[in-house]
Amino acid sequence: MKASLRGMKSSRAKAFGISVLLSSAVGCAGMLAFGGGSSAAQSNFQPSLVKETKSVTFTQSNKPPIVYRKPPSSLIPEGRTLFIENCSTCHGVDAVGSSRAPNLQGLGAATIDFWVYTGRMPLADPTVQAIQKPRKFNRQQTLAIAAYVSSLAPGGPGIPSVNVAGANISQGESLFSTNCAACHTITGVGDALANNVYAPSLYGVGATQIAEAMRTGPGNMPRFGNGTLSNAQVADVVKYVLYLQKPQDPGGLSLGHVGPVTEGFVGILIGLGGLMLFGYWVGGRATR
Ligand code: HEC
Ligand code: HEC
Repeated sequence: MKASLRGMKSSRAKAFGISVLLSSAVGCAGMLAFGGGSSAAQSNFQPSLVKETKSVTFTQSNKPPIVYRKPPSSLIPEGRTLFIENCSTCHGVDAVGSSRAPNLQGLGAATIDFWVYTGRMPLADPTVQAIQKPRKFNRQQTLAIAAYVSSLAPGGPGIPSVNVAGANISQGESLFSTNCAACHTITGVGDALANNVYAPSLYGVGATQIAEAMRTGPGNMPRFGNGTLSNAQVADVVKYVLYLQKPQDPGGLSLGHVGPVTEGFVGILIGLGGLMLFGYWVGGRATR
């Protein structure tokens, strides 16, 4: 009797072990297949539009971690036209601001590029937090607007070009967890902060915009200046954020890249759903 009880126990334990193992495998497969999501924003970035002086051939190790450049001044006339058509009603023709919108003079090309290329500007309703939305302008138009506004007054950082290849991802991970995770969460999905402000997901931005956010501190985000994070450290964080975005595209079903949040949800639904069903099935068998 005792022996058979022990036998039963161990076989149930075994069944339980197998069920946990298998169901987590099913869960993982679900996640792999459906957790996909890459940033379309990134692939649209055309660094070639920012003039690069290629007189020196840098190797990965001696290439500087970040180079800040002014957008080409040849784009200023195009930028002026775009600015007058799309921005001047709120910011004024010379970008000095109005009762509706802040002064943009002296902010620098990186700030303008960030707000326009992440779709925050132009704004339709000035009373709500400007959020990332589908961008209105392509890369060249954005750089043109940045070229025009930054030509009006000196100041502010240029547009960063990040040497991701030379950056250190594990340094980036620890810098991210101490400096960014409190607001954006450790996985970068973002979170609500106080007073209807939220820290957005970091899955839809490319290297340049990540560095720009750190160097310029948009909205309620603190600015991380040279004294807080060196260029090498900023590049490390950028590399880590890009890494957070990437493992989500393992080559499974992409769901048309509707966005990592939706895709993650489906992944959880199918992965977890499968896991629960499987557990239920194995559980039912083991107790029989
Ligand atoms: C409907 C009015 C409106 C329009 C149109 C508009 N903006 Fe803005 N802009 C605002 C307001 C309001 C803010 C402040 C928003 C905030 O802080 O969240 C702002 C903020 C900004 C900032 C950040 C300023 C800072 O101090 O950090 C930049 C850069 C900017 N706008 C650029 C532009 C550009 C370029 C365009 C045209 C493509 C544009 N805006 C069109 C209203 C507008
Ligand atoms: C105190 C909270 C806070 C901290 C800390 C913080 N952020 Fe942010 N971050 C925000 C908020 C709020 C926004 C949205 C700003 C806005 O649009 O008004 C934001 C926006 C961003 C964006 C733009 C995302 C998009 O969708 O366009 C990036 C990229 C970003 N942060 C990266 C970082 C990185 C990297 C760090 C660490 C070095 C960091 N943030 C630290 C609050 C924070």
